[in-house]
Amino acid sequence: MKSLMVDYSKNYDFAVRLFQFGLDNKNRIKALEFSGLKQGDTVLDLCCGTGLSFSAIQNIIGPKGRIIAVDKNERMIDLAKRRCDRHKWDNIKFVCCPIEDLDICESVDFVLLAYGWYDKHQAGFWLKRIKSMLASQYRLCVIDYKLPNSRWLRYLVSPFLWFEIMLLRESYGLELLSWNPEEEIRGLFGEYHYIAFFFDIIIVMSGSPRDAQNND
Ligand SMILES: C[S@@+](CC[C@H](N)C(=O)[O-])C[C@H]1O[C@@H](n2cnc3c(N)ncnc32)[C@H](O)[C@@H]1O
Repeated sequence: MKSLMVDYSKNYDFAVRLFQFGLDNKNRIKALEFSGLKQGDTVLDLCCGTGLSFSAIQNIIGPKGRIIAVDKNERMIDLAKRRCDRHKWDNIKFVCCPIEDLDICESVDFVLLAYGWYDKHQAGFWLKRIKSMLASQYRLCVIDYKLPNSRWLRYLVSPFLWFEIMLLRESYGLELLSWNPEEEIRGLFGEYHYIAFFFDIIIVMSGSPRDAQNND
């Protein structure tokens, strides 16, 4: 289980890029294309952080699409706003609040939770809330890390994962190295598609969210 109480804003982008050998943006585009994001879509980017998904999203939705970016951490949202200014994107709305207090009345086509998997109860609660709030049909996409299935790949990846944890000063520590959220995430979906790529450590699940009454 990851901790919710970490300030990693300063090192965040660097750590992610280092861990993904600079391929983070490419990996996000791949994940979003796989998940069926389309031109003109409105995307709810939950736990948007510093906005590392924005460029990949913009690439696909184009200027007619919109992003609603939500994060509870002011420093992360600040960095996300700066990114937005740098790129002169004018189709992003920022909401700085915990998902627990979120109130959205717009229609949304795509809900993204990228690297925001803390634990199944927390995420289950968030997504249940989102489902009860959104009147429109939408596609849900969850992107996160897992350990590779192969033992050899696991040996290869573990030091990098360990270094990223240290760099971000995450409080969940090394127990992440035995962590695999695949089964938990699966429980959020009705029908879904799944891929694992990038040395088998990035998982993407996308599809229709499970009906609220079935989310325990
Ligand atoms: C690991 S970062 C992921 C950032 C981004 N999605 C990405 O792909 O790089 C997780 C983010 O979740 C945010 N977060 C954690 N709990 C939250 C909550 N209850 N409501 C909103 N944001 C939350 C944190 O502030 C942090 O910015």
